[in-house]
Amino acid sequence: MPPQLVKVLNDSYQAVKNDGEDVIAGLTKNPKTLPPKYFYDDYGSELFEQICELPEYYPTRTETSILEKYADEIAQITGSSELVELGSGSSTKTRLLLDAYQKIGNSFTYIPTDVSGGILKNSVLELQEKYPDFFIQGLLGTYQQTLAYLESTPTPTRTICFLGSSAGNFSPQEFDNLLTQITRSLQPGNYFLLGIDLDKSKEILEPAYNDNQGVTAAFNLNMLSHLNWRFQGNFDINLFSHQAIYNQAETQIEMYLYCQENVTFALETLDLKVNFQAGESILTEISRKFDLEILQTQLEAKGLKVKKVWTDPKKWFGLILCQA
Ligand code: AVI
Repeated sequence: MPPQLVKVLNDSYQAVKNDGEDVIAGLTKNPKTLPPKYFYDDYGSELFEQICELPEYYPTRTETSILEKYADEIAQITGSSELVELGSGSSTKTRLLLDAYQKIGNSFTYIPTDVSGGILKNSVLELQEKYPDFFIQGLLGTYQQTLAYLESTPTPTRTICFLGSSAGNFSPQEFDNLLTQITRSLQPGNYFLLGIDLDKSKEILEPAYNDNQGVTAAFNLNMLSHLNWRFQGNFDINLFSHQAIYNQAETQIEMYLYCQENVTFALETLDLKVNFQAGESILTEISRKFDLEILQTQLEAKGLKVKKVWTDPKKWFGLILCQA
């Protein structure tokens, strides 16, 4: 593969210094937690693609329906010549935006970014074939590494997009920090496009994260398999079960892995032993469900002026376009 297709962001762009420190911090806490970025090894990214196709998982198809309607308008308003996508995965929905920018006909750069090298490389190769006139370069790294890199390479007509409600996987404080970093990666006049899942009833939310085919369960359990290969661990995933609940007070889905026995596991390269009591949980993900008005106020407070907001007819999902 030509080296310019995927740029690997290394230590000079890192915010998370020691790989695995966040795992140690989470597993030695009570109650235990793990950071959702560990869902996404190559297999986890594949499982997430399958989640997006599930009948119960409405966010992807709802956001896609909004993009199908409004991608042309987004491209017209922004007129950008560079689109950066945070957490791009397979960039499936983004093709709607790329088609819209292609119609405008300017020279155009697309920068997908992800922590999963496999899916990033494949999508860059596919997209380069589909859009031969675009300059496409993937960035492999965490959000923090990516944004630090973007801050060091400003461009006058940049749009950063953050789709799929991945913003919901950050705690309010983490999201606030991320917005600060996003703002620093934008020059005045640049745009930020945010796709977010809106609050709705538990009857819709819980099945979306506890699907009948067990794909979300496999995705959640795969985090332990990922830790096993990454840090020489011996988690037995058969001793864990998946459950997602809607926490109404926090307006967030919480995904847990429950350990069924009293047992100790080790992560060798982290020099860590973890004891579990039967029934003990690990919180692996929160998925916050937003209120459009509150979020707009938060964006404006960060210096991101809200230009336009689009939703679907049921108001299940929102797309917010802001200008720095
Ligand atoms: C990536 N993220 C927006 C998904 C979500 O809905 O919070 C991750 C996910 N977890 C379980 N299903 C999907």
